Amino acid sequence: MRLGSSGFRPRCATVTVSDSFCGPGSKSQVNGPEKRKREREPLRQIFKSGAGGTGRALVHKLYWYADLAKELLLKPRYRPREFWERRHAQGHDFWTVGRRAFDEDGNEAWYDKLSQDLVAEFRADQLDLRRLSVCEIGAGIGYWTRLVRDLGCERYLGIEIAEAAVQWLQPRFPGYDFSVADAAEVPLPGTWDVILMIHVDEHIHGDRFRAALRHIKAAMSPSTRFFTTYRTEATVSGVPYVEYHTREDFAAVFPLSWIKLVPRPNVGDPMLSISAAHAE
Ligand SMILES: C[S@@+](CC[C@H](N)C(=O)[O-])C[C@H]1O[C@@H](n2cnc3c(N)ncnc32)[C@H](O)[C@@H]1O
Repeated sequence: MRLGSSGFRPRCATVTVSDSFCGPGSKSQVNGPEKRKREREPLRQIFKSGAGGTGRALVHKLYWYADLAKELLLKPRYRPREFWERRHAQGHDFWTVGRRAFDEDGNEAWYDKLSQDLVAEFRADQLDLRRLSVCEIGAGIGYWTRLVRDLGCERYLGIEIAEAAVQWLQPRFPGYDFSVADAAEVPLPGTWDVILMIHVDEHIHGDRFRAALRHIKAAMSPSTRFFTTYRTEATVSGVPYVEYHTREDFAAVFPLSWIKLVPRPNVGDPMLSISAAHAE
């Protein structure tokens, strides 16, 4: 698939990091910012890991409160590309993309519930990913990439605003395509059977959110399913990088008849399935 014509930057051209760069005992030469990042890694692990008892959990909470206080008090302006580039450059775990109130184990459990709900919905909707294409917006650290790969998907495109994320993801999923792009600014290339956007809508604000939805709609065929997390009730966020969206916000671009609430047998996060097929 050629992505160049759509304005997406092609994958691989910028990918220089080998799969082993995070691995123990890596022999690759690492200098400069990458070396310093690695040297910080043990400290970061202490802060982030919930394993190892209440001491570590307490340290995690302190780290989280400090982070939250900075956002609430200083209210730094949210510049999406810089914000996510910085986060992904600092590490590739749930502290990067998950709920910071939760430690790594807590996030694992939280993601697991949503993934079970999503798989249940794939089954209920007879979506066999072995023969369907998937485009994911905000692939993050590859949690959902791994899920769709495990479900046998062979054609996947992950779109990420952060180049650092794509550099990390590409070598880990060699058969998949990744592209550095802002989904609010650049149309999606082609059409897709399934479009995933999990825990991303709240980070695309105002007109940019509606532009991203229009790009998604343009990449949908009558049978495409677009899965997205959302907020069940209008909620004001205290932090600059979050703006919650309800079903009505999605209805600014999609007909209400297209929008279906996904059942939550495992009590994962609220999720919508959006498709013209739901209106039939
Ligand atoms: C909260 S994280 C969620 C990542 C992943 N979907 C998950 O559930 O673990 C949001 C992700 O979306 C990416 N992102 C944010 N805004 C974006 C945009 N406008 N276009 C593409 N990716 C974006 C960020 O870099 C980040 O990886």
